This record gives sequence, C-alpha cells and structure tokens, in this order.
Amino acid sequence: MTKISYVDKKHSPKKNELVVEFKVKPAKGISMERAAEEIAKESSIGTWTDLATMKPRIAKKLKPSVFSIKGNTIQIAYPLELFEAGSIPQLLSSIAGNIYGMKYLERLRLENISFSAAFVNSFNGPKFGIKGVRKTLGIKDRPLVGTIVKPKVGLNEKEHAKVAYNAWLGGCDLVKDDENLTSMKFNSFKKRVTETLKMRDKSEEETGEKKAYMPNVTAETNEMLRRAKFVKQQGGRYVMIDILTAGWAALQSLREADLGLIIHAHRAGHAALTRIPDYGISMLSIAKLARLAGVDQLHVGAIVGKMHGSEKEVKGIVKGITEKSSHLKSVFPVCSGGLHPGKVEALLKILGTDIIIQAGGGIHGHKKGTIAGAKAMRQAVEAALQGIPAKDYALMHKELAIALKQWGAK
Ligand code: 3PG
Ligand code: 3PG
Ligand code: MG
Repeated sequence: MTKISYVDKKHSPKKNELVVEFKVKPAKGISMERAAEEIAKESSIGTWTDLATMKPRIAKKLKPSVFSIKGNTIQIAYPLELFEAGSIPQLLSSIAGNIYGMKYLERLRLENISFSAAFVNSFNGPKFGIKGVRKTLGIKDRPLVGTIVKPKVGLNEKEHAKVAYNAWLGGCDLVKDDENLTSMKFNSFKKRVTETLKMRDKSEEETGEKKAYMPNVTAETNEMLRRAKFVKQQGGRYVMIDILTAGWAALQSLREADLGLIIHAHRAGHAALTRIPDYGISMLSIAKLARLAGVDQLHVGAIVGKMHGSEKEVKGIVKGITEKSSHLKSVFPVCSGGLHPGKVEALLKILGTDIIIQAGGGIHGHKKGTIAGAKAMRQAVEAALQGIPAKDYALMHKELAIALKQWGAK
C-alpha cells in the first residue's frame, strides 16, 4: 500500500498551486504535525487509513503539501488539478468541508486563500467593479451614500417606494431592500420593483442626479433568476443578493446569467462562520471568494457601527477585494450597520473615499424624517470631504445639526 506523507517543509509553492492558511488547535494528545497531516489528507485525496486503491500516480499529481507550520498557523499548497475550474462549492467542499468535523481537531479556522492566476481566470469576477459602478452613477470620487428602507419588512409596496423616493430626494444615491425582505404577502417583489423604479425615475428627474434601487432577489435559484430578469426588464440597474443564505452556487448562477446588472452582496449570516477568531472561515476568505464569483459591491463591516469587526480586520478585507489583479475588477466596499451622520468623519478617516456608506436607522430615524435624514447624511459626507468637523458644518446645515444632537457627533 502506498504510504503518503503530506507534511513537506521543503516544498515551495508552485505557480499554479493554491495556498491555504489555517489556524489549528489540535485535540488533546494530537501533535500539530499530525493535525496538519490529517487536514491536508481529508481536504484532498485521502481518508483516515491508507488505501489499497490509492495509485502512486494519483498521489504524485494531486497530493497537497503542508509546507509551513508556525505556532498554530499552517499553510498548505494544493495542486490546481484538485479543483474544478470555476466552482466555489467544489473548492469549499475540499478546503472548508469535512475537516471541520474531524475528531483530531478542537478548533479550525480557514484564515486566507491565495488563488493561482490559472484558478482566478476560470471565474467571471465582477462585471462592473468600483469603476463601473462610479461610471453608472456618474459619481467620480466621493463616497456613495445609500440607505436601506426601514422598517426592515412591513411596509407595503407603495409605502416602500415612497420611503425610497424621499431618501433619493434628500440625497441618497442608492436605496436597497433589507436582507430579510424578498417577496412577502404584504409586499410582493414584482409590485415593489415596479413602484420603486417609478419613484427612482421621478427622483432622477427632480434632482438631476443618477439614482439606483437595489432590490433583493434572494430566493430559490430559478426564482431568483426570474426576479433578476424582471428587474432588468423594468429598467433596473442593480440586484442585491444575500450571498451566504442564498449560497455560492446561487451567486455564481446570478453572475453567470450576465444580465448587465450590478450585483450588490449582503453578507447576512457571515458571523456564524467568521466571528469566533479561532474557528470557522475568515471574512477575508469569504470576501475573496465573492470577488471571484463576481459581486460588484460587498458589505465589509463599518468598524464604528453596530456590528462586530475591528479596524484591522475590515482594512484587510478591503485590501483583499480591491488589490490589483490582472483578471479581477475591484469590489466596492460597503460599510453598513449602525451608521449615522456623526460617524461619517471617523469612517472616512479610516477607510478613505472609495466606499459606499449606508445608513438605515441613521436616516429613517432622523427626527424630521427620511428626507432630512438623507440630507444630513450627505452633509456629513460633504463636511468630511472638506475636512470640516461635522459639528462646525452643522452650524450652517440644520438637518445635520439635528442628527448630531440626536445621535451624537461621534
Ligand atoms: C444590517 O443588515 O443591518 C447590516 O448592514 C449588516 O451588517 P454588515 O454590513 O456588517 O454585514
Ligand atoms: C443593511 O442591510 O445594511 C442595514 O439594514 C443597515 O441598517 P442600519 O443602518 O439601520 O443599521
Ligand atoms: Mg439590514
């Protein structure tokens, strides 16, 4: 029987190999080396015992190599041939599959993946990316301002469209559905899209600015595609999808349909995978996969907002989806969750201007309503861009003044 060894510290990753970094806590009594061996084996060609059916040629061609073990971090180089071109599910069934359940391990986290160029080239990647989105909206260099219609669910179609209209009038560029609004008894997808796009057109005429609606098409895959096509027919420019609950295959199908719509990706549920630092899958890895699949905009965390996610982590994610690539366009980072005008200055200081800032509560919770809320948000962005402290800018801008009084200037 062929005995295969997977730990090979002399191996240096080849051009075509995928390099995956894991954080590992072995179970009691198991050495790090043994744990690494089992991870490499189970995530590729092997199983718990040597195999009579294992041919030397298989091992020669497809065996991954654990080439680095440092503290609790291991790195494994996987031959390209292990993976189906253009398939995120198959990749994850390998490197983020059975290994999480192995008794050899107490904790396991997929920390980072470096794809080889050949693998990257087998994916679509973003159709628009930051540049394409900016061009579509005619906004050169300021951050985009968006909102989420609130209440999350509950408004009927016409009420929803009206709230969207007010947000656009006040100064929002983008309006999106919330992650849990799809097609409900009291607010059906088709009617909502028609009504809201009508209001988009009206607000464009009245403001002279380009506006966009990002309807949430998340559904069973065939239905999702029907919804996306409907958006296209109705003159929409965007779709939004909950990438983790809809799933990677669904996301790839949406991108593959190539409808000419910008794809906004919400990451609801990611924290079940990403939040525990030594377990699960890092958000950086998820973000890089989303870029491969071809999202144009992705929620990355807001640092100063309501959700967990440190400055270091979020900056790392932003780098992961925007760093230069010969095949992949940059994904627009979306900061959302618990933001309000008082937070804008701090956020821009950390992340710069190539971001989308979204606020739901921070706009529709404004004491004077949605229009004033959207105005306050745009004023906060103007202030930050001009380097004027929000509280000074507020002296001349009453909507901002009210917002700062309501929620604070930080
Ligand atoms: C929300 O839906 O409230 C948030 O935007 C989710 O947070 P995230 O943008 O950090 O994923
Ligand atoms: C989102 O989906 O991004 C949000 O619902 C953000 O909402 P919030 O600004 O009220 O936290
Ligand atoms: Mg939401």
